[in-house]
Amino acid sequence: MCGIVGAVSERDVQGILLEGLRRLEYRGYDSAGMAVLNEQHTLTRYREVGKVSALETALDGQPPRGRIGIAHTRWATHGAPSQTNAHPHMSGERLAIVHNGIIENYQTLRDRLRNEGFTFDSQTDTEVVAHLIESHFQQTKDLLSAVRRATAELHGAYALAVLHADDPERLIVCRQGSPLVLGVGIGENFIASDQLALLPVTDRFMFLEEGDIAEVRRDRIDVIDRDDNPVERPVTRFEHSADAAEKGDYRHFMLKEIHEQSRVVQATMEGRLTDRRVLEQALGTDAENLLQDVRHVQIIACGTSYHAGMVARYWIEELAGIPCSVEVASEFRYRKHVIQPDTLFLCISQSGETADTLAALRQAKEAGFRAALAICNVPGSSLVRESDLVIMTQAGPEIGVASTKAFTTQLTALLLFTLALARRNGLPEAEEADMVQALRQVPGQIDQVLALDTPIARLSEAFVDKHHSLFLGRGSQFPVALEGALKLKEISYIHAEAYPAGELKHGPLALVDSEMPVVTVAPNNALMEKLRSNLEEVRARGGELFVFADEAVGLAEEPGVHVMNMPSVHPITAPIVYTIPLQLLSYHVAVLKGTDVDQPRNLAKSVTVE
Ligand code: G6P
Repeated sequence: MCGIVGAVSERDVQGILLEGLRRLEYRGYDSAGMAVLNEQHTLTRYREVGKVSALETALDGQPPRGRIGIAHTRWATHGAPSQTNAHPHMSGERLAIVHNGIIENYQTLRDRLRNEGFTFDSQTDTEVVAHLIESHFQQTKDLLSAVRRATAELHGAYALAVLHADDPERLIVCRQGSPLVLGVGIGENFIASDQLALLPVTDRFMFLEEGDIAEVRRDRIDVIDRDDNPVERPVTRFEHSADAAEKGDYRHFMLKEIHEQSRVVQATMEGRLTDRRVLEQALGTDAENLLQDVRHVQIIACGTSYHAGMVARYWIEELAGIPCSVEVASEFRYRKHVIQPDTLFLCISQSGETADTLAALRQAKEAGFRAALAICNVPGSSLVRESDLVIMTQAGPEIGVASTKAFTTQLTALLLFTLALARRNGLPEAEEADMVQALRQVPGQIDQVLALDTPIARLSEAFVDKHHSLFLGRGSQFPVALEGALKLKEISYIHAEAYPAGELKHGPLALVDSEMPVVTVAPNNALMEKLRSNLEEVRARGGELFVFADEAVGLAEEPGVHVMNMPSVHPITAPIVYTIPLQLLSYHVAVLKGTDVDQPRNLAKSVTVE
């Protein structure tokens, strides 16, 4: 999704902007650009289709000098990826703008601006905003009021950064529905769509609220809110060390993030458990009040986070005995729903900026849900700021587009939440203690599975020339199968479908032959015997099976049946542990296929537009 970087400094900003764009590459993009204003107040713009490295090469011969500038990575929405559609967009030679989001009324505005004499070079909604601001600037001669007037006319979601050669000392930025953060330096200030872009230059950040407009100068930042009142937004320090966003010795971010999981799952539990129980107060100061009398849980999320929600439904209904519904945010937000009394609304999101999830949350608040709980990985994100109660996962920055450590930490946080809720609903102390013990063993079990990396890499060879695959799971392992299939399709582009194993006979069995590898997760739980017969059904049709099974199940390796023995785990925590081999499998298949593991085609890390 689009990335924004900007800087106002005493030094040349080109290097800061390029490094910022590189750090945003993980979000997915198709073109990159930059505009810098020099000492003579000339605005120079560079744009290239493809990677940030292409922009860098284009700059090589003639690096633009200037102490104020903006830059952007674009993920096409209006208009194909091309140099003319890439940002920054300009109005004449004096105004440059970068934008993240979507302007819904751009067509009407475009017609009006055309009548005013503006001409359009691109198909983007952003160029409309550039001309709109310029048209106001011609009247007001003040960039801040021009942006204020222009944004009052915009419908949709945006984060904007504007630079004008006739107002050369400041950047004007604003946000409504798309993320934007200000980086606070000494004698220099910065802007970005994500803190990670600015970690080499600062660790102090100011988050804008919805509707805020900020004036960013070298030595000060002034913010006004949506009603034009001057406001102070707090400055917070970035919590993770800067190298958390580096690849280190790993070949890909995804591999690094898979290997971090025992540590980050441990970190997500830390301070929230005793030996025998979950500390409810550690889930948030108001947890006690907000969890009281919850009679139903409605979970909303997208992508991998949605799969975490699906696992949580099994837990919440089994342990807390409370009905739980799970729905993808893009569906939830566009239908009428029946709200049960005392329903807790639970949003799960790694980034906290997913447009559909935020829209669903805002609707839910209006519709009268009891309270909004967020499980999120990014402090200061919109989701965190807009929820009543927040359980932060401690995954650290996740850079690989395909989510791994965010998922297992989400599951950890969800299990903590479930246990807190379950205790209120009569879960016996001894059972809670048993579950807490099981949870404490998970980091060690993850390490045991990570040690299977080499044999899993060997298994992955069987997938390289395949076009389709099937993933099976039962009970709470069904969402794990869904997540395994999602990982494989995201990064290796192999078509992968997941089914509850019991549904095999109702359709997918027709697809099974020697060209269709079937992957199964088989912990030693109550459904094992049923799963065993499903596996027979596949074998009987010549399907090749890849089974990740508890050693104690005693599944034997035979022709067409590859068995990877897994450590014995508690049935409740099994979804966390059984996710790991499926992540490794997808990773190795993608590496063998030579795809772009960390930035798969057409996908974005954080989908901040609808
Ligand atoms: C995108 C990412 C996925 C992620 C999903 C939801 O599709 O590529 O990895 O699971 O968004 O993102 P969130 O930040 O809300 O968890």
